[in-house]
Amino acid sequence: MPGPLAYLNGEFLPRSSATLSVDDRGFVFGDGVYEVWRVISGQPFEIDAHLARLQFGLAELRIAPPDIVERDVFVGVAKRLLGASSLETGEATIYLEITRGAAPRTHQFPIAATRPTVYAVANRFEPPEALRARGARAITTTDIRWLRCDIKTVQLLPNVLAKQAAADAGATEAILVRDGVVTEGSHTNVFAVDGGVIRTHPANNLILHGVTRQLVIDLARSLDLEVRETAFTRDELQTFDELFLVGTTTDVMPLVRVDDHSIGSGSPGPIATQLQAALRARLDAGDRRIAAVAS
Ligand code: PDD
Repeated sequence: MPGPLAYLNGEFLPRSSATLSVDDRGFVFGDGVYEVWRVISGQPFEIDAHLARLQFGLAELRIAPPDIVERDVFVGVAKRLLGASSLETGEATIYLEITRGAAPRTHQFPIAATRPTVYAVANRFEPPEALRARGARAITTTDIRWLRCDIKTVQLLPNVLAKQAAADAGATEAILVRDGVVTEGSHTNVFAVDGGVIRTHPANNLILHGVTRQLVIDLARSLDLEVRETAFTRDELQTFDELFLVGTTTDVMPLVRVDDHSIGSGSPGPIATQLQAALRARLDAGDRRIAAVAS
């Protein structure tokens, strides 16, 4: 059976022999963007929403978009990676990274002819069902990131440090707090249920505009639940009926404890449970909306 493949700059090659230049600006400056797709039964989920965010990030960073941002090219690469790793059944993820390319180290952009580096791989994924059933714990920590958190760059050191602080505390996620206000998690968006109303930080420059965040908002509204995109403070956290995280590799994850406080009843709440079921149904049905648009 062939081993796992990587896609690097237009070629498929064994993952173990995929290598980058030490002058790659992704390595030297963190000068690049990435995306993570969920894959169910060989079908990447929310293909177009992730590609749109990738194109937005490339435009903001003024990196020339390589052809993998085109839907048919991405789908072809994804299918080959998934097939080569026997991931056409069950759950998987696809990671795609694009950097400004390899060039002698100068802070300013290199000459226009520098070719962006494009790297993609597929990995097996196990959804965290046991944790979801009992509910997860989070800590709060200061959001020390820059003011363009809406660009999904590979510069993730603040996120790495926050998640490690959570791991050190035996928690699943770190909730980031800027000037007393909850922005998002280290790799998730954060939702609260406040007197029956769902709240989450508005999609501005202080958070990543999560694909799952938008999907969960749409699903909640389709279930006649009220959603307000209004931020909340760290102090409010302990007053909420429910808190939950959302993200591509998180789905809807109820939080039952934050720092030293229980949330709501101390077990997963009804709205998070309902939204997780709705999201799961969408995942299992595949990308129907997009398939309908494409056909
Ligand atoms: N992270 N916020 C941040 C900071 C994130 O890194 C992510 C995703 C999200 C959720 O976005 P989405 O629903 O589009 O996955 C929110 C990915 C999964 C990662 O870094 O692995």
